[in-house]
Amino acid sequence: FTRDTRTVRDYIRTIHDFPHEGIIFRDVTTLFADARGFRMAVDQLLAPYAGLAIDKVVGLEARGFILGGAIAHQLSVGFVPIRKKGKLPGAVVSQTYKLEYGEGVMEIHDDALVPGNRVLIVDDLLATGGTAAAGISLCERLGAEVIGCAFVIDLPDLGGRALLEELGQDVHVLTSFEGK
Ligand code: PRP
Ligand code: MG
Repeated sequence: FTRDTRTVRDYIRTIHDFPHEGIIFRDVTTLFADARGFRMAVDQLLAPYAGLAIDKVVGLEARGFILGGAIAHQLSVGFVPIRKKGKLPGAVVSQTYKLEYGEGVMEIHDDALVPGNRVLIVDDLLATGGTAAAGISLCERLGAEVIGCAFVIDLPDLGGRALLEELGQDVHVLTSFEGK
């Protein structure tokens, strides 16, 4: 018997030149596919918030749904999706955010959160922070309080963590990769 000493970081696969030349893509499918890796990631993401009053876990499309669903189940709270424009069937609140080229739009159902709700936002990766900032804004526009933002991966050179901290957010990341 040898003890398995792999960390969450060890399960993340690196793919060069995806989606285009020069981009280093951090692939979490290999983390999610491994029973031990996925459990470690979920446990470590929620650890700082266990025992705190949380009303909803809010997941950001798409990989934030996978993590957020598991975290909501573990915390015994409901799950709320923030989706890209046009995917949610009910009445929504929309927020634009910056993409590498142009703008994106994220949406939340306008009745998914109520004033005073305390929420935890979850996604796989924090890069420029644009997606997460849009998510925070949508939660706050519905009157909710974001008590934390949790990510598996931080790319610190892209400034997302600094941006969210400037917004007064508590940011929790499991691992970070230097470089862009
Ligand atoms: C990726 C990642 C984060 C976001 C981070 O998602 O999953 O959600 O980018 O980037 P940012 O901090 O610069 O906003 P992507 O937009 O590629 O969409 P997907 O999750 O639906 O694949
Ligand atoms: Mg995403």
